[in-house]
Formats: sequence, structure tokens, C-alpha cells
Amino acid sequence: MFVSECLGVNECGHLTIGGVDTVELAGTYGTPLYVLDENHIRATIRAYRRSIDRHYAGKGHVAYASKAFCCREMCRIAAQEGIWLDLVSAGEMHTAITAGFPMGNVLFHGNNKPAGELAMALDAGVGRIVVDNIAELELINNLAITKHMKANIHMRIKPGVEAHTHEFIQTGQNDSKFGFDLQTGEAPEAIRRAVSLPNITLKGLGCHIGSQVYDVDAFQLAARIMLELTAQVRTDYGIEMTELDLGGGYGIKYQAGDDPAPYESYMEKISATIRDTCKELGLKIPEIFIEPGRSVVGPAGITLYKVGSVKEIPGVRTYVSIDGGMADNPRYILYQAEYTMLLAARAAAAAEGRYTVAGRCCENGDLLGENVPLPHPREGEVLAVLTTGAYNYSMASHYNRLPTPPVVMIRDGVPRIVIRRESYEDCCRNDI
Ligand code: LLP
Repeated sequence: MFVSECLGVNECGHLTIGGVDTVELAGTYGTPLYVLDENHIRATIRAYRRSIDRHYAGKGHVAYASKAFCCREMCRIAAQEGIWLDLVSAGEMHTAITAGFPMGNVLFHGNNKPAGELAMALDAGVGRIVVDNIAELELINNLAITKHMKANIHMRIKPGVEAHTHEFIQTGQNDSKFGFDLQTGEAPEAIRRAVSLPNITLKGLGCHIGSQVYDVDAFQLAARIMLELTAQVRTDYGIEMTELDLGGGYGIKYQAGDDPAPYESYMEKISATIRDTCKELGLKIPEIFIEPGRSVVGPAGITLYKVGSVKEIPGVRTYVSIDGGMADNPRYILYQAEYTMLLAARAAAAAEGRYTVAGRCCENGDLLGENVPLPHPREGEVLAVLTTGAYNYSMASHYNRLPTPPVVMIRDGVPRIVIRRESYEDCCRNDI
């Protein structure tokens, strides 16, 4: 019935997550409140790992894309589950380092990494720096010379495959700020330069074709193109790279009509493409990295709000205002992202109308959804927005100086706070 298996309805008709009553959670911890089911997160990570083990004979790695949801506890979970992290900033690196994450299992991404952050990455011993451009390549080599070390790198390639939800296109000149271009010859040229630099060890190539992608064919095509480049590099420069990073982007179910392929079938099809292509090109099967973010945490999370005013504009629409909004979930205003919503205390009740769910920020566009089917909401009720585990907390802002809500994780039916609610003082901590 629900968009995620970690949700249910108890005997009181209340929505549950990880078996815990969401009305009680809202009462105990207050609203707005992010809630994540840790068991669900771990189960997803294990499913990914099993797929890698099955299809690549254990020669592969899951790197959780921490941009989807980053905090120390999430880094600890990744460490305990034995996976890698994809990190993109000093802030994310600091979070991982201070959580005790083994930094050798980190991919450091980004299209404009400052020198200080590259130095930090080298000092922390990150596993692979994913190089985006020539200037960065030279900078890393110079930093590595100064530090008397060799930097292990991947090179981010634009494979010319651009994927969106439900469709993908193969573009000629790929208009993206990330990575080296294949069509213009920039990529092979940069690879040639990388292998000539004394303090760089080129381990492999990487790509990332999009996010919330349902088209498995797009991933298959990207994998093929990347392997063709790997083979070309072997022919041209006599170097056989041993790793291939296929990025993240696996789509999840936000609404009842969404129908993403199960991970296992993604993995099966992509691995078949890799095996066939390697055979055809006479390549050894490389060590595969995948970087799922959204699919690891998205379905495991919900956000709980309290309904305030319910304002009907006859003949126009009914606004249901909640105590959060664009500051804790900017995805509707940014991408018109649609979510499933429920009244937590009447989780199985039939919809009575369609409502516009409005946030509390001082701007008319601050909405979480329009035409949302719900039973008629009453003031004081708890509204649950489902599948908010990815790119909600991590994209939260302090607009209107709203403190960021806390994150509660549930493990084996027991909730605990993993990120505290910000105080008003936290909001002005750095004010002079
Ligand atoms: N690897 C790289 C290099 C990426 O750039 C991303 C996401 C991922 C992995 C993880 O992709 P995922 O499995 O989560 O789809 N803020 C947007 C999503 C931006 C994704 C950016 N890169 C949203 O809220 O939909």
C-alpha cells in the first residue's frame, strides 16, 4: 500500500515507520521532524553489496553518495556495513573523519575542489580523488610532489549519455560542468597527461549520468562507452585501467505510480553489459564502483509536520500550512518533486479532497505539493511526507532563520536522535 516497505499502519490507524508510531514520534521529538529507518538503510546497503558480490565475483564496491544525507551516524553505518563513501567537500570529509570512517574507502568528487580541500584529502589518505579537469590534475600532482606521495585517482568522464527520469538521451557534445569530454577528444588527452605525471596513479575512469534514473538502458550504454574508452586508452597508451566507477542515480518510488526496476535487475543487466563488452574488447573485468545515494536513504525516511492553518479559497484551492517547508525540503520548489503525503493519525483514511500543502516561509512559492490527495486536514494534526530520506536534510537551509529539524533514526523499533534540533542560539552562533 505504501511507497516504502518500512511504513505501515498500526491498530490505531496511525502511520508507522520501522514499527514505531509516527504520532508518538511527533509528540516526543516535536515537529518538523526527519525520521529514518536504520534497518531499511542497512538492508538496502546489503542488497547492493550482495548484487556486487554476485555479479562481479566480489570485485566491486558500493560507495554511498553522502550528499543524499550526511551526518556522523550515517558515516558510522557505512563503515559498519563495509562500504565506501562518495564525498564532495571538506565539510563531508570532516564529518567522515570525525566519525572514524576509514578514509581509504573514500571517493572524493567535485568539479571545483579548492586546493585546501585537495590537500586535506591527500592528508586524510582518501582512497581515490575523482579528477574533474586538467587544472585540478596538475594541482593534485603538485600537491602530491610536495607531500612526497602518490595520489590515486579516477577521472570523471562525460560519456555523452544524459539520463532523466523515464528517458535518456545520447548527446553529442555533452553540456555538463562535470568531467572530461569524450566527443572533443579532451578525455583521452587528459588521460595521456595523467599517466605522464609522476605523482599520479590512474586507477580508472568514472561517470555519473543523472539522478532518479529509471532507464537501465542508459546505465548500460554509459558502461559500454566507458569500457570502449578504457580499451582505446590501452591501445593508444598501453595502459589497462583496472577500475570503473559507474556513479549513482538509481531511481526510487515517490508515488504510487512510480515503478523503478528492482536493484537486482539493474545490477544484473549492467553487469551483463560489462561482461559482454569486456569480452568483445578483450578487457579484464574491472573493479566496479557504484555510488547510490537517493536509493539508500530516500525510501527509509519521512518528515513529520504539524498542520497549522487550513485556508480555503472558494473556487480556487485550499492551503494547508505546516510548520516546515522549503527550508527543510526545497525539492518541490526546485524540481516540482512530488511526494506522497498522509495524515499520520488517519493513515488509511480515504482522501476527501486535493490540497495545496504550504510551508511557513515568507514567500508564496513555499509549497511542498499541490493537488495533494488527503482526508480533510485539521489544525494540529500531524502530516507525514514520505520518501524524504534523501536530499531533504542535506539540502535544508536557514531561510527565515528557521532552525534545521532534528533527525531521529529507528533501529529495531527503538528511536534515537542522531542529529539534534538546532536551537535559536545555533542559528546565530557565528553572528558577531
Ligand atoms: N555520484 C555522483 C558523482 C553524483 O553527482 C551523485 C548525485 C550521486 C553519485 C548520487 O546519485 P543518486 O544515487 O543519489 O541519484 N539534489 C537532487 C539530486 C542531485 C544529485 C547530484 N548527484 C535532488 O534532490 O533530486
